[in-house]
Amino acid sequence: MGRKNLYIETYGCQMNEYDSDRIRTAIDAAETDNPKDADVIIINTCAIRDKADQKAFSSLGKFKHIKANNPDVIVGIAGCVAQLYGDKLLKRMPHLDFVLGPRAIPKLPEIISRIEGEKIRALETSYDLEELFEIEPYHREGTVTAFVSVQQGCNKRCSYCIVPYVRGDEVNRPLSDILKETRSLVDKGVSEITFIGQTVNSWKQNGDKFGDLLRAAGDIENLERIRFTTSYPRDITKRMIEAMKEVPQICPHLHLPVQSGSNRVLSMMKRTYTREWYVETVKRLQDAIPDIALSTDIIVGFPGETESDFEETMTLLEETRFDSVFSFNFSPRPGTPAAELPEEQSVEKKAAGARLRRLQERQRDISYENNQSRVGLVEDVLVEGPSRNDSSFVSGRTAQNRITNFPGHSELTGKIVKVKITEGLHNSIRGELAV
Ligand code: 5AD
Repeated sequence: MGRKNLYIETYGCQMNEYDSDRIRTAIDAAETDNPKDADVIIINTCAIRDKADQKAFSSLGKFKHIKANNPDVIVGIAGCVAQLYGDKLLKRMPHLDFVLGPRAIPKLPEIISRIEGEKIRALETSYDLEELFEIEPYHREGTVTAFVSVQQGCNKRCSYCIVPYVRGDEVNRPLSDILKETRSLVDKGVSEITFIGQTVNSWKQNGDKFGDLLRAAGDIENLERIRFTTSYPRDITKRMIEAMKEVPQICPHLHLPVQSGSNRVLSMMKRTYTREWYVETVKRLQDAIPDIALSTDIIVGFPGETESDFEETMTLLEETRFDSVFSFNFSPRPGTPAAELPEEQSVEKKAAGARLRRLQERQRDISYENNQSRVGLVEDVLVEGPSRNDSSFVSGRTAQNRITNFPGHSELTGKIVKVKITEGLHNSIRGELAV
């Protein structure tokens, strides 16, 4: 048999995108975007909210008839939903051949050959730490930006969050491995690296802290830009801020989830900081890195959130003026402490929805005003490729992570060019080449 054909769907965070690329390497297959042509079908799933996890089930359902017509096709579920429900998935879905937890990706080649050879179904949700970081992601030729995982799992215990239960405790990757993967990507033409981890800035290894990792990355020749996500507020240190200030390749942008503007809610969420502490930390960052851009995540309708708690989140938007906010209604997740809170504490669905809409509408205006404030400035844009909607435009990002579209030839891909900003929109900016 020649090379296999892989069909893969990916849901959720950057870590899942990265893991899907590791799955691509592990399977070493050609890729198809039609599941009917596939030898292997994999859904890489997300469990962060109920909606995401429902998506996994409806997506898997689609493959029932494909399996019925072609019993040789291997259908698998990977990612956090696989870890969460494990064996139950095999019981519930007879057309499923394997269930693979996020820490077990290095076992995938063995699993596939066992399924082919012995015609058995496989469940692999162990946490084999030895080989946790084995298998580097598949690299697409010509890509300008890439992720490098520096950490798996999470040691925080935010009361709403399922991640520690499905991805396990924090395990940090050795510095030399991170740098090796980064260097090899730069050798393949990548200009911008984003280090990823659930709480990326809590990374530490043998006395080295996150700030040291940033500095070491800053010494890699031809690496033009360094980003990292997601930062945990309480793990911001002086060493990290100094590295951000002094290493020119580090982009002035931080994704810093605040989750709520109310101390009462923050405490119920077990976020370990207060609103005042968060605002103070933002000030420290802004003092050190004057042009720093901030984005955040907010949960609306956490059990027990009152209208007045929510108002505090609204005033935080005014106080901090984030460039972008990813906001969600609270979704109870199995096994998390917040899911066990008494029913009468839960915020009515309609009220929670109305709060979320209000927050999103206000933030839309703030993002727009922030983008407008860039008009007239000349910014460095790393061009990532042709624009989605218009092939005479190219698209890239400013150092502050603003998506920027401007008229230009796709030959600019991979280059950092000066762009004069001419227009600020809600989610992006427009400009023209400044020569
Ligand atoms: N309900 C709603 N949103 C959640 N998030 C995490 N867990 C939940 C949940 N149970 C959000 C947080 C986090 C982002 C990735 O997803 O805002 O930062």
